Amino acid sequence: HSHIDHADVDKVQAAIAAGDTHAHIPGYQALAAYREGGGYNALAELRTSGDWEEVQEKILASGLRGLGGAGFPSGKKWGFVRGNPGPRYLAVNGDEGEPGTLKDRYYLEREPHVFLEGMLIAAWAVEAETCFIYMRDEYPAVLEILRREIAALEAAGIVRPGYIDLRRGAGAYICGEESAMIESIEGKRGLPRHRPPYVAQVGVFDRPTLVHNVETLHWVARVCREGPEILSGVELNGRKGLRSYSVSGRVKRPGVHLLPAGSTITDIIDAAGGMLDGHSFKAYQPGGPSSGLLPASMDDIPLDFDTLQPHGSFIGSAAVVVLSDHDSARAAALNMLRFFEDESCGQCTPCRVGCEKAVKLMQAESWDQGLLEEVSQAMADASICGLGQAAPNPIRLVMKHFPDEI
Ligand code: NAI
Ligand code: SF4
Repeated sequence: HSHIDHADVDKVQAAIAAGDTHAHIPGYQALAAYREGGGYNALAELRTSGDWEEVQEKILASGLRGLGGAGFPSGKKWGFVRGNPGPRYLAVNGDEGEPGTLKDRYYLEREPHVFLEGMLIAAWAVEAETCFIYMRDEYPAVLEILRREIAALEAAGIVRPGYIDLRRGAGAYICGEESAMIESIEGKRGLPRHRPPYVAQVGVFDRPTLVHNVETLHWVARVCREGPEILSGVELNGRKGLRSYSVSGRVKRPGVHLLPAGSTITDIIDAAGGMLDGHSFKAYQPGGPSSGLLPASMDDIPLDFDTLQPHGSFIGSAAVVVLSDHDSARAAALNMLRFFEDESCGQCTPCRVGCEKAVKLMQAESWDQGLLEEVSQAMADASICGLGQAAPNPIRLVMKHFPDEI
């Protein structure tokens, strides 16, 4: 597995202090190096003699699921989008806003062309007229790398000028919700839309749109090149595939750790070098704040799609945050709800008012659990989008697993 080294951070800071304005651009694999290693051959072959359904079969056989967090089978989406008449678009969700998630940035700052080739393969498969990349503005290095490398692709004749339309997000968490992202791409305020219709039918400028997360497309390229077995051949604890866990918190080696999808929190802490000295494992956030908090005693669950639902949680984007005996589960949950309160788009009452009420109730010395549960239920049942629907998870899980703290 791989990880981000703290030394990188020190080097960048030293270079910035020395006046190197491009110090934030890491040493990544540029187009020439990628092509030397056979990059873009798969795309070229597909464009000349490929059968999109064969590629779709490969993607389905690999078991690849949407790595933004929802885990929808990636190959199936292609079929839905193709099933609607053109013109069609592809929109990449690069608005990696889930606190603790850094895997997309990790891949983009190292191997941007793996992602770009995957994107162009998916675009070829659905005959997309244009590829929109909606990129998080807080990733200036990634934006610069993509600007340079898209220009290089145009210069090399791999794409026509303007085929890839790079858009900057503007710091709103909700714009990572796919329909809000589409509104934002269209130049409007990022408010989630009601579904159905799904974006596969009515997406960017009301056209059928294939939406994929950055990492999903990274694996599309790798599966096309290396075969479906690179994912389907990895098995652990009855689960198949690989997962890029973004690990932070009280561990020795925070960063992105690529591990089998059946890994438990124990495996993940091990891969991250163990707990920090003087800290003992107390709780963990398995996949972003909307996945809530689980206690250390629940350390034998494979952290994959579908395995956490029975426990009132989910893996989402696999943003694992490890808490220790120095941390308060109650304070962590309050922090998560404050985040949702800030980031709620305010469009629907259960979420807008529910987050605000929950934050107030969670600041009381002792939690009014009956009322918090009522608020949670209303939010989960009646919010328009995933933000409001999942925001109660931290409240409910802390009430269940950390009753002494509240
Ligand atoms: P979702 O399950 O509603 O949709 C997933 C995808 O499948 C979407 O592209 C949707 O259009 C498509 N889809 C679902 N049913 C379909 C159907 N019947 N026909 C055609 N297409 C269909 O989930 P959602 O709300 O898009 O994502 C929620 C996840 O996002 C959560 O798990 C959360 O962890 C994650 N998330 C990730 C963030 C990040 O930074 N990576 C930020 C915030 C949330
Ligand atoms: Fe906006 Fe929250 Fe409603 Fe989603 S659930 S549409 S974020 S107010």
